[in-house]
Amino acid sequence: MTNDLPPALQFPDGFAWGTATASYQIEGAVAEDGRAPSVWDTFAHTPGKVQAGDTGDVACDHYHRYPEDIALLAELGVTHYRFSLAWPRVQPTGRGRLNPGGVDFYSRVVDGLLERGITPWVTLFHWDLPQALEDAGGWPSRDTALRFAEYAAAIHERLGDRVRDWTTHNEPWCAAFLGYADGHHAPGRTDAGDAVRAAHHLLLGHGLAVGALREQGARHLGITLNLYPVDAASASEADADAARRIDGLMNRLFLDPVLRGSYPDDVLKDLTSVTDAGHAGHVRDGDLAAIGAPLDFLGVNYYSRHVVRAGTARPGRPSHWPGAEDVEFVRRPGVPVTEMGWAIDPEGLYEMLTRVTREYGPRPVYVTENGAAFDDRVAEDGTIRDEARRAYLDSHFRAAHRALADGVDLRGYFVWSLMDNFEWAHGYSKRFGLVHVDFATQRRTMKDSGRWFAAVTRANGLPAA
Ligand code: FCB
Repeated sequence: MTNDLPPALQFPDGFAWGTATASYQIEGAVAEDGRAPSVWDTFAHTPGKVQAGDTGDVACDHYHRYPEDIALLAELGVTHYRFSLAWPRVQPTGRGRLNPGGVDFYSRVVDGLLERGITPWVTLFHWDLPQALEDAGGWPSRDTALRFAEYAAAIHERLGDRVRDWTTHNEPWCAAFLGYADGHHAPGRTDAGDAVRAAHHLLLGHGLAVGALREQGARHLGITLNLYPVDAASASEADADAARRIDGLMNRLFLDPVLRGSYPDDVLKDLTSVTDAGHAGHVRDGDLAAIGAPLDFLGVNYYSRHVVRAGTARPGRPSHWPGAEDVEFVRRPGVPVTEMGWAIDPEGLYEMLTRVTREYGPRPVYVTENGAAFDDRVAEDGTIRDEARRAYLDSHFRAAHRALADGVDLRGYFVWSLMDNFEWAHGYSKRFGLVHVDFATQRRTMKDSGRWFAAVTRANGLPAA
């Protein structure tokens, strides 16, 4: 048994091992105890938006089965569990008083985790914006940032006695650009100007929430960004510039304001076609100071690397990202991919962890998501022998360990995901879990990768390769 052997690659004492989930992806119970619709309810119920017409109406039914799910976390031996709060469960219209039913649910989850010795790690926003706020303008509207800070402060007041670790947003890039520019995610709008304003207001909401929580004495605050190394497909100047622009839009547009208090000049220039078209002026004096308020940690979600080239400009096509309408994403021949079609590239994790340390200064970093979808098969004996997922995680853990050895202040690692769940526009077709979910019966089964992960968490390390 691997967990009886002294691990060859030991992680530091106190290293946080966890799994991650998000409210809309697992909870179900979308109309219970006072929860109101989110943009994801509306989007999923709009024909053609989500594969096979899947919705989060039931999802993993975690709302009712959370005790069983907490028991699974204990079986995995995790020290931490990262989950998000559904804003429309806690504050149904996004403003005003909190909904006691919603608050009680999360309070019970927190207590259940603590009883098992598992540290709750709360994300305040993982994309399920109250529909009422979208109707009032959504993230492109500045008011949403103010509402977010109020919601953050109100729920922190209720849970802050037991929850120490708070993340404002999960992947604001996705919320802004998939939600408002290419429309692949809720609310499904396709206006580049809206996306740019949404990005700023998500960041502003982060900064204002950090300020509000600090006033209440919060001591462990951060944000989670999705980061990707971006390589040029060739040595040509045009391809190098395509890589610069995608790196700017996906990485630096978020890293710079949060960690340096300023937007990158080259990205602002790339966005002038948008800002000149009437979208300037949404950045007000003082915004960047709020956004750049000191944080206690950076959360990094890592899945893959992008390789890009300059292609043919197709401005105005519905799926355009501002300033990058011509950029094409290239598949590298021979590089294995997951079920999502994402290249398996553990070296990219090492690169991003060392890069944020080098370019933005040393600070506590957590990998807040990493994992893979594979076409898992349930064997006749009921087991799920997902060797590909085990190998994926093993290689990424080793890359993280190398980053640690090279000076990155990496404090923890959360696997996406605890269990198979609603994978956004892909519905239930992509399985990321360490635990298999039979969506017809809601039966949970630990996969082989989960058993292996439990050995890693218990040993706080990996055996020699
Ligand atoms: C990330 C999301 C998470 C999950 C994984 C696969 O972008 O934060 O909810 O869908 O991808």
